[in-house]
Amino acid sequence: MTALEVRGLVKTYGRQHALAGVDLTVAPGELVGLLGPNGAGKSTLVKSVCGLVRPTAGTATVFGQRAGSRTARTAIGYLAELFRYPAWSTADELLRLHQRLAGSDGGAAERQRLLDLVGLPGESDRRVGAMSKGMQQRLGLAHALVGGPRLLLLDEPTSALDPVGRRLVRDVLAHLRDSGVAVLLNSHLLSEVELVCDRVVIIRTGTVVAEGAPSDLSRPRGVEVDTNTGRRVIDGLVRDDIPALVARLVADGEQVYAVRPLASTLEDVYLDAVQGQTG
Ligand SMILES: Nc1ncnc2c1ncn2[C@@H]1O[C@H](COP(=O)(O)OP(=O)(O)OP(=O)(O)O)[C@@H](O)[C@H]1O
Ligand SMILES: [Mg+2]
Repeated sequence: MTALEVRGLVKTYGRQHALAGVDLTVAPGELVGLLGPNGAGKSTLVKSVCGLVRPTAGTATVFGQRAGSRTARTAIGYLAELFRYPAWSTADELLRLHQRLAGSDGGAAERQRLLDLVGLPGESDRRVGAMSKGMQQRLGLAHALVGGPRLLLLDEPTSALDPVGRRLVRDVLAHLRDSGVAVLLNSHLLSEVELVCDRVVIIRTGTVVAEGAPSDLSRPRGVEVDTNTGRRVIDGLVRDDIPALVARLVADGEQVYAVRPLASTLEDVYLDAVQGQTG
């Protein structure tokens, strides 16, 4: 059974079209990156799956249950893009509240484990008001993981994190995926998405414009050679052309130091998809 199945999802806010018929699936143990420009509809999609936004048309199901239903919500962990916790609340109080709301019986051990996991060990008594924004975002991730969700929806979970924090979140997500959790990750950090996601879905003005594994979406972009005459890119060649290319360069008297096939990055693919550029 799929963890998340979205079919023909449409959402209009008044006359504003946010989603124009989106299809998307996430399987258990799959990490999918949802990409798209500001205003593309990413958060609207995630909120629809949580039941926070009522779709205009189409369906979303979570492990076969209608999105927004109690059983669907029980399976979900959600980190919103813009969240504010009360400044006076401590990390421990906040997690305890969410354990109660989520019906988790993990107790102090779960709270401790989650704070350790997100890199906030020993911070259980720190008040939100005394946390940096990155610390608050880490706490938000811990909150999303309360009760061990089977589908994790993260709306830009690393936007406030330093490089070490981003690495930590990548490791946490990879571990969750390996233990069978389905993850849908909204992000603008393409290099990060490329590193961790099994599949990416790119949306633009509420429509899916590209989809696939990052490696399947990328295309050959020529071969870069570094010789005694300098470094240059030879367009139109692919990896299989390299032995003949090297033989020709050597026959021409060039000294070859390095040869590298180039492929488009996820950033190139993204720009092609959302702007029609060939980067
Ligand atoms: N509550 C709302 N009322 C009216 N319009 C809304 C509402 N929420 C979102 N929109 C509009 O719906 C569209 C999609 O917004 P959404 O927040 O889903 O985009 P996004 O892809 O998450 O963007 P970002 O990358 O900036 O977070 C935008 O045009 C936005 O202005
Ligand atoms: Mg958003």
